[in-house]
Amino acid sequence: TQHTQPHQAASSLWSSRLAFILAAAGSAVGLGNIWKFPYITGENGGGAFVLVYLVCIALIGVPVLIAETMIGRRGGQSPIATMRSLTGRDGAARGWRAIGWNGVVASFLVLSFYSVIGGWSLVYIGKAAAGVFTGADAEAIGAQFGALLANPWELLLWHSVFMALVILIVGRGIRSGLERAVNMLMPLLFVLLVAMVIYAMNTDSFARGVRFMFSPDFSKLTTEGVLVALGHAAFTLSIGIGVLMAYGSYLPTRVNIARTAVTIAVIDTGVALLAGLAIFPLVFANGLEPGSGPGLIFVTLPLAFGKMSGGVLFGAVFFVLLLVAAITSAISMLEPVVEWLEEHKGFSRARSALFGGLVIWFVGIGTVLSFNLWSDVHPLGFIAFFKDKTVFDLLDFLVSNLMMPLGGLAIALFAGWALGRQGLAEDIGLRGLPYRLFMVVLRYLTPAGIAVVFLYNLV
Ligand code: PFF
Ligand code: NA
Repeated sequence: TQHTQPHQAASSLWSSRLAFILAAAGSAVGLGNIWKFPYITGENGGGAFVLVYLVCIALIGVPVLIAETMIGRRGGQSPIATMRSLTGRDGAARGWRAIGWNGVVASFLVLSFYSVIGGWSLVYIGKAAAGVFTGADAEAIGAQFGALLANPWELLLWHSVFMALVILIVGRGIRSGLERAVNMLMPLLFVLLVAMVIYAMNTDSFARGVRFMFSPDFSKLTTEGVLVALGHAAFTLSIGIGVLMAYGSYLPTRVNIARTAVTIAVIDTGVALLAGLAIFPLVFANGLEPGSGPGLIFVTLPLAFGKMSGGVLFGAVFFVLLLVAAITSAISMLEPVVEWLEEHKGFSRARSALFGGLVIWFVGIGTVLSFNLWSDVHPLGFIAFFKDKTVFDLLDFLVSNLMMPLGGLAIALFAGWALGRQGLAEDIGLRGLPYRLFMVVLRYLTPAGIAVVFLYNLV
């Protein structure tokens, strides 16, 4: 093809495999692991949900993570341009370009609500540092969270601050912006989570929390729950919407993608499981409901911070690190949008970040209102399945449970069936039997797994 690979100019590549891992893991590890995983696990009954989620990570998440990164590196451009250059000019193949479009729209929508939740972590840095959790009981801490949700202006303010941070970082360019943002704070988050798990071990409900997470009771898992587990596997790894395609376009050819992808998936899954192990014992120890929804970590963790010695500092640092994790994910969501604006509108990076970010910020107001003024607004209420879903619920459902897994399906099919097999093994970084096994999974198991979950939910 005539297309060059602009991102493969030496000056714009990641400096090393580690730099890419830090960026991709920075995208993966975020609110999805610490905020979303525990609350949806609680809503979907625990163990059986976790098991399905883990199977989805292995059979769907990792193969798509590999395929998407590989496609990105081959194309070497923004997701849309990459898909255009890899599908050539002939009619039928153009359908694959939907992968690029789906990615830009989905990453746009996901950031609109992610930023609102990112704002919650900003609020909780302040609350923790001010010591408002000290000695407070579950009721008082629940009331604090309820008061935050009830106040649209406060949510809007912190959503705005979060978006401003993201725009600033992305506007400054891939090297200075991303590599600097991806830093040594993530290992510290890991250490703090381990400390929280140790704290949870000393409550009398640790065993109960472990049982809730790891002993599967399939009578508690609905077909929708299986779809949510699949969707979360995609969400938590940031796959299916072009983010890894964008990041992969900066990946030097010598880096082994398969090994890198497994590393990222292990880190991401580890963080989620640690978060669950820290939170569920606290839920039971305090007589709270595991299925109480999106506020779960904001009412359980503060209880622990309020009781432990040094909890003011510990809690404040914890929420700072949660914010950093959220920001490294959020900047990755803005990336496909910014690259699209740069290519199609000819905007500079700074202008693309500002313009894209402002439109996303505006859409985010729908999520802000979902927790207060619009909490009884159910836009698709006439469909039984969406009966109780607010604007936020619908956005989350659309992106996490539809656009990301379906994008993943298309990526698996494209990489497995449509893309030339020449040089594929080297591109992925596998040889012999592992390569052949991987291709069987990518071509058959991954697509079949996604398709089955969707078919079950349709009937
Ligand atoms: N993987 C992120 C998390 O678990 O918090 C969320 C995310 C990042 C979703 C990037 C989508 C995305 F494009
Ligand atoms: Na994640």
